[in-house]
Amino acid sequence: MVDRRLPRPSELRELLRPAPFQWDGVQRRLTSAATIADLRELARRRAPRAVFDYTDGAAGEGELSLERARRAFHRLQFNPSVLHDVSAVDTTTTILGRPSTLPFALAPTGFTRLMHTEGERAVVAVAEEVGIPYALSTLGTTTIEQMAEAGPGARRWFQLYVWRDRAPAGELIKRAVDAGYDTLMLTVDTPVAGARLRDVRNGMSIPPRLSLRTFVDGALHPRWWFDLLTTEPLTFANLASTDGTVAELINRVFEPALTMDDVRWLRSVWPGSLVIKGIQSAADAERVVDAGADGVLLSSHGGRQLERAPVPLELVPSVVSAVGGRAQVLVDTGVMNGGDIVAALALGADAVLVGRAYLYGLMAAGRRGVARAVEILAAEVVRTMQLLGARSIDELAPSHVTLRPDLP
Ligand SMILES: Cc1cc2nc3c(=O)[nH]c(=O)nc-3n(C[C@H](O)[C@H](O)[C@H](O)COP(=O)(O)O)c2cc1C
Repeated sequence: MVDRRLPRPSELRELLRPAPFQWDGVQRRLTSAATIADLRELARRRAPRAVFDYTDGAAGEGELSLERARRAFHRLQFNPSVLHDVSAVDTTTTILGRPSTLPFALAPTGFTRLMHTEGERAVVAVAEEVGIPYALSTLGTTTIEQMAEAGPGARRWFQLYVWRDRAPAGELIKRAVDAGYDTLMLTVDTPVAGARLRDVRNGMSIPPRLSLRTFVDGALHPRWWFDLLTTEPLTFANLASTDGTVAELINRVFEPALTMDDVRWLRSVWPGSLVIKGIQSAADAERVVDAGADGVLLSSHGGRQLERAPVPLELVPSVVSAVGGRAQVLVDTGVMNGGDIVAALALGADAVLVGRAYLYGLMAAGRRGVARAVEILAAEVVRTMQLLGARSIDELAPSHVTLRPDLP
């Protein structure tokens, strides 16, 4: 039996105290987004379908490479150790010879101003504020110089696509050196474009074409269209001098004739750190490190290139034993949670890159959305480390994780 009584007014007053109302709707939605998946949902509502699908989508029917990469993180089991003083956790680490306040960097993405007109400037501003690196894409929508201006104190990396005519790449490299970029990232998993079926089905074009469909979409996503039509035009800002249509340009950028000679050439002309992005085997990791790379990025391009590609996370142990000590091992594809980042580090990776996770934030709310995405990931990294009993990145070890193929 429970004895009942009337509640006292003072107790009711305490319970009924309303939280202060947040008048700024964008901030209100961001604050109530608790995960990257919540930000993804906000992004889906704000952006036109074709833009959301371009970002969210991957290659092939079933988007298997991305799906398997994400599932690998789910199948992972953490093995904690208790009774360590984890009241203070240090997330700082060294990525490619320089400090980063968190063990992850923001991946290069093309057409970034398509997601939100603030684009790369917003991303680099957050990277500077937080103290993590950000890579500008060759297919970016902000120039090398504009990004340096928007994030003068940020660790800026430049992602390079090299195509048959080597001259434009040489020019981009020179501009990146002059603008103080510390790392060059050569992407090598794009001999041809992946089969992005959502884009084909949506009739995706860049810049978006005005048609009856886009007109209807304009009524559904007025803010996005208003931004597009009232701000500087969306262009491949770094390739302004190139002739030809956008389609021709993209076909040229995806270069089937790239070889190890190009890695050696870049090593001879680039004074900073050199990372090869899109490595998918220990043998290739060894070849590029022998050719002078300072780091390899294990990546299936967010599942956007080869279908049924290896899961980058699962490559980490073999690549670390092949090139660890001689080069840093970075990994990306499928990261949606700070726990995913901690898992990759425990398996032996030196750092992780995130792509869509920050793009969802950008698409949802520009700079504030990117800041919220990084805040969510950082809090998850810290909480996971505390619950694992690790006080610093160095303390994370393979014993903290078990890859469990038997888990659903
Ligand atoms: C919308 C979008 C555009 C991208 N553009 C580029 C690019 O221009 N160059 C490049 O090397 N990688 C590009 N990537 C791949 C990312 O750098 C990164 O490898 C990938 O997003 C990691 O997977 P995640 O999105 O699951 O985190 C792009 C990815 C996305 C989602």
